[in-house]
Amino acid sequence: MKLKLLEELLDEHRLVDRVAGALFRFAEAAMEGETTPEDLADFVEFLRVFVGSYHHEREEETLFPALVDRAETPLDRGPLAAIAADHREAAGLVDDLEARGGSPEEAAEVARRLARHLWEHVDKEDSVLLPESEQRLLRHGVTRLEGRAPSDEEVAARELGERLCGRFPPLEDPEMVRGDGCVACSAYAETCHGIEMEWWNRWDHEYQSSLEEG
Ligand SMILES: [Fe+2]
Ligand SMILES: [Fe+2]
Repeated sequence: MKLKLLEELLDEHRLVDRVAGALFRFAEAAMEGETTPEDLADFVEFLRVFVGSYHHEREEETLFPALVDRAETPLDRGPLAAIAADHREAAGLVDDLEARGGSPEEAAEVARRLARHLWEHVDKEDSVLLPESEQRLLRHGVTRLEGRAPSDEEVAARELGERLCGRFPPLEDPEMVRGDGCVACSAYAETCHGIEMEWWNRWDHEYQSSLEEG
């Protein structure tokens, strides 16, 4: 990635991906009665402060406006609307996780749903949103894009995420098939017609076919 914000987001996704795996391990451990209320509170803290307030905020407050204001990208439909809806869903699941702390079974169920949600979200951003955003921004002459620096609280939350991966070594969900591209996205054909229909114009299609023809 040539744009600094996109490079950082991509890097942060690696941590989110691992913490989602830790959350999956947490769900298993909760069912065995091996978790404490502090464990759950630490996941909630990481997800609210690092993922919600820092990571998602820079996507919505820095990347989206650059795409909309400087690269003629629609905000109210297509990928940006789908991503914003995902962020709201994630925040709702985090609230739910916190609220289910009293029941290990319920906490485990929400933790698994949240882990799957985060994995799918990371996959669609890594394979579609970030690479397509970079091409689009560069083509519109945006050659610098930087997000704000993290607060002390956000730095601490990031470190907490790393510690959670140590405490709950990340697991994969054997039942989840992960994949790249719009076809793997739950919004595809529901609320979003896919990147080509939503974002591309004739110029993009010609450019893409020239790449494919070599
Ligand atoms: Fe992201
Ligand atoms: Fe996101």
